[in-house]
Amino acid sequence: PLPPPFQVPLPIPSVLKPVGTAGGIDRYEITQRATTAEILPGVRTPLWTYDGTFPGPTIESRRGRPVTVRHRNELPVPTVVHLHGGRTPAASDGYPTDLVLPKAWPGRAHGMGGMRMGGMRMGGMHMSGISGMRDPRAAETRLVRDYAFPLDQRPTLLWYHDHRMDFTAPAIWRGLAGLHIVRDDAEDALGLPSGHRELPLMITDRAFGAGGELRYPALDPSLRERPGVQEPYLAGVLGDVILVNGAPWPVHEVDAARYRLRVLNASNARHYDLEAVTDDGRRLDLVQVGADQGLLAAPVVHRSLPIAPAERYDLVVDFARVPVGGRVRIVNRLGSGRTRDVMAFRVARKARDGSRVPRVLSSDVPVWRRSEAVRVRDFSFRAGRMDGGHGWLIGGRPFDPARTDVTVRLGDVEVWRLVADVHHPVHLHLVGFRVLSRDGGPPLPHDAGLKDTVSLRPGEAVEIITRFDGYRGRYLFHCHNAEHEDMGMMANLEVV
Ligand code: C2O
Ligand code: CU
Repeated sequence: PLPPPFQVPLPIPSVLKPVGTAGGIDRYEITQRATTAEILPGVRTPLWTYDGTFPGPTIESRRGRPVTVRHRNELPVPTVVHLHGGRTPAASDGYPTDLVLPKAWPGRAHGMGGMRMGGMRMGGMHMSGISGMRDPRAAETRLVRDYAFPLDQRPTLLWYHDHRMDFTAPAIWRGLAGLHIVRDDAEDALGLPSGHRELPLMITDRAFGAGGELRYPALDPSLRERPGVQEPYLAGVLGDVILVNGAPWPVHEVDAARYRLRVLNASNARHYDLEAVTDDGRRLDLVQVGADQGLLAAPVVHRSLPIAPAERYDLVVDFARVPVGGRVRIVNRLGSGRTRDVMAFRVARKARDGSRVPRVLSSDVPVWRRSEAVRVRDFSFRAGRMDGGHGWLIGGRPFDPARTDVTVRLGDVEVWRLVADVHHPVHLHLVGFRVLSRDGGPPLPHDAGLKDTVSLRPGEAVEIITRFDGYRGRYLFHCHNAEHEDMGMMANLEVV
């Protein structure tokens, strides 16, 4: 029962209220629980949610004002919460074996999390990654976990999502994703569109069964023991329904004015190349003011904009360029048939517009020079054999929580050279980075600003540069194609 496009109103995720604000720290509580929601008309879809909604509630916070979030797990499986793009101490970064356990979970009393050891057959292949509990550091487990986020970082759109080892992709697919916006006074003072003219847009694709249930080709639908997807889905799971903020191909009524669109691609594996098209076939400018890690130094104008899983773009679109009554469709140029449509805006009324897009947006975008780098490292992101089957490898190896892959010194600047076989959106925890080059040439226009996820295109070599600042401890880098991530494409990054 798929709805016609551009009929369902765009939902805006509710903003979570703190349960307390003592000592300059905002305290939040989120219960992870199963529920159902009407996503397609007339049917209920079972979901796993943060606080009962998909997307989860949005957390709004201020730069440098710490936040704690207490997560309670009422789901039938362990979970892990990661704040994507957060500059977070390792203890709260959601390492894939730092579990929040459900009430009934075998082995809980022994601090073992109940994870089964040993080889897991996956559609004829063998996975090595499952035995997260081989790692002695992972023995600490609980039913409730307090995550502490200092948020001492540039304002931007972050998102929180599940990160359990080997089971991240199906958990996000079932609904475990929400937004977290960081703001500061300097950004507020710019005069960018705000209030109801600032819209978060979480784009995901999903597949549904006839009864409204989500379809995910997991080897073990209970997500308790056997990780992985059926063999034909190794490249990543795609859906044929495009959801924005959890609604299929929604429509939103707008004033004839500038809007700030905070776009996140929270899809497991789908790439988009977005454009804004009017009824008479004109393309509106997408004025990019920010990247994954906050405001650009100056705006960059795009006609279309590629967005890989986990990337964010902060865009200003001027609907005053469309006659009242007109419509602007957001289209994915990489889609076909129904997956070409994303959502639409209907220009409802003339309105005053006091917003602006200043020519200088920010003066604190870090610029690191190649000469500052104390080290250049090479990493390949490729398909390969793992335990006799197929997986996705970094530097020829599948993820192993017991192995340190890279040790960096706090404060060091490094250049990383990333080489891909197929599309891999590569994400580093803890730090933002700049894109230095693509295939030896300059970065692309959409590489501007400070990033935390970079889309490697097939066969491409991309250089990034960053300073490993913030905190010491064990972090990760991985492919954010969520299926690739679950199937080995993750590595440990130790900051010392
Ligand atoms: Cu979006 Cu390792 O995370
Ligand atoms: Cu990948």
